[in-house]
Amino acid sequence: MLRRAIRSYGGTFARAIGSAGGAYGGIPKETADVVVIGAGVVGIAVARELALRGREVLVVEAASTFGTGTSSRNSEVIHAGIYYPPKSLKASLCVKGRKLLYKYCCERGIPHRQTGKIIVATSFAEIPKLEHLLRSGKENGIEDLRLMEGFQSMQMEPELQCVKALLSPSSGIVDSHSFMLSLVGEAENSRTTFSYNTTVIGGHIEDNFLHLHIYESKGLQDGTNDAQLLPQFVLIPRLVINAAGLSAVPLAKRFHGINQGILPTAYYARGCYFTLSKTKTPFSHLIYPLPEDGGLGVHVTLDLIGIVKFGPDVEWIDGVDDISCFTNRFNYCVSSDRSEKFYPEIRKYFPNLKDGCLEPGYSGIRPKLSGPGKPPKDFVIQDEDIHGVPGLVNLLGIESPGLTSSLAIAQCIASKYSK
Ligand SMILES: Cc1cc2nc3c(=O)[nH]c(=O)nc-3n(C[C@H](O)[C@H](O)[C@H](O)COP(=O)(O)OP(=O)(O)OC[C@H]3O[C@@H](n4cnc5c(N)ncnc54)[C@H](O)[C@@H]3O)c2cc1C
Ligand SMILES: *[C@@H]1O[C@H](CO)[C@@H](O)[C@H](O)[C@H]1NC(C)=O
Repeated sequence: MLRRAIRSYGGTFARAIGSAGGAYGGIPKETADVVVIGAGVVGIAVARELALRGREVLVVEAASTFGTGTSSRNSEVIHAGIYYPPKSLKASLCVKGRKLLYKYCCERGIPHRQTGKIIVATSFAEIPKLEHLLRSGKENGIEDLRLMEGFQSMQMEPELQCVKALLSPSSGIVDSHSFMLSLVGEAENSRTTFSYNTTVIGGHIEDNFLHLHIYESKGLQDGTNDAQLLPQFVLIPRLVINAAGLSAVPLAKRFHGINQGILPTAYYARGCYFTLSKTKTPFSHLIYPLPEDGGLGVHVTLDLIGIVKFGPDVEWIDGVDDISCFTNRFNYCVSSDRSEKFYPEIRKYFPNLKDGCLEPGYSGIRPKLSGPGKPPKDFVIQDEDIHGVPGLVNLLGIESPGLTSSLAIAQCIASKYSK
């Protein structure tokens, strides 16, 4: 794994620097130019962009391949950028990322479709919220939003029931696996190396550089959670991008010497999906109710092979211990009991939903920075200006619309750290 990756990675500057004294004396060390922690869509996109701009990148991923975390457990929706407060990172990176993503998919033949999306008010009491979304969407630079009367939207979607609706023509869906596969290929073609089965268990700051503590994932399978766990290997990069998704906060807390005060608390909210069976596809647009606490509401998404999914709901869960988090040992089971709550939610806008049509699908976990009942937090991108550690970028709370924003996040980082 890592040794092999390092050999193929480097030569030019990845020279063994032997073992100095101190707490980590005797442990093999290696320097590197850029290390990206995590091969989710964000880590991969950042690695590719930095590599295209001349940096030499090593991606360190705990799992045995890329994209096994949240990046393959989401709605695969290309969001327009409506919901997020004007001037937030979520708003600007989503709008920019959406344009980059459509362009990328068109140029490379990545399966995607601009389906459009209808956000529905199912009672008169909800209409002001719809108008609020229209305003914030316009402020975020989305020009094509259109309010419709209930009957107009029901003409477009005969199975739909609502009193008023907001049409977002620029929303769509993408095959996230094909997208990631393409990014990985391009990154590898510009001298990016991927080291799978390789976990970053922490780090420390020495001589003003962050030294990363590395451990082979398979040695961590038994619920080891020793904060004193000694690394098998130390990497000393010039630049570290912490794109560890659900683990980004707990990992940053294990970088000894970083100002803990600036690290937010991590919260986790699982979202389950159910698939529609025994019925032909009822909708051609994505259908969303109004957002709820912690999520966007149990909505209808379609995938590119025509499967209709409902979800995700919101279930706040406790985190797991650090090592289990790094190796993604969360509980992703979808209990069929949860469908009881889905039927009434969905019937508010899809009254013809028949009993027994929902089958457990999959689930994903949102890496959140605010807890139940609290307003959503923005993405957090922390660099030296904030935490004082040169050459460290923490990407925290990259929940939805992180997939849509990935190419814009990559550009934002690369514009600051390209050669
Ligand atoms: C239910 C749900 C629905 C969503 N729907 C949408 C949507 O429709 N549209 C949209 O734009 N966004 C959506 N999102 C958000 C989107 O999926 C995420 O923002 C995005 O996938 C985050 O990518 P990432 O690379 O930051 O994280 P991840 O995909 O989680 O990748 C992090 C990687 O880091 C690795 N890792 C973790 N710890 C370590 C360590 N210590 N050492 C080495 N490697 C480590 C993990 O194995 C993982 O591969 C949704 C999210 C959820 C949960
Ligand atoms: C990663 O680990 C898995 C399971 O332990 C193994 O099957 C796979 O070959 C390993 N991959 C690499 C690249 O070493």
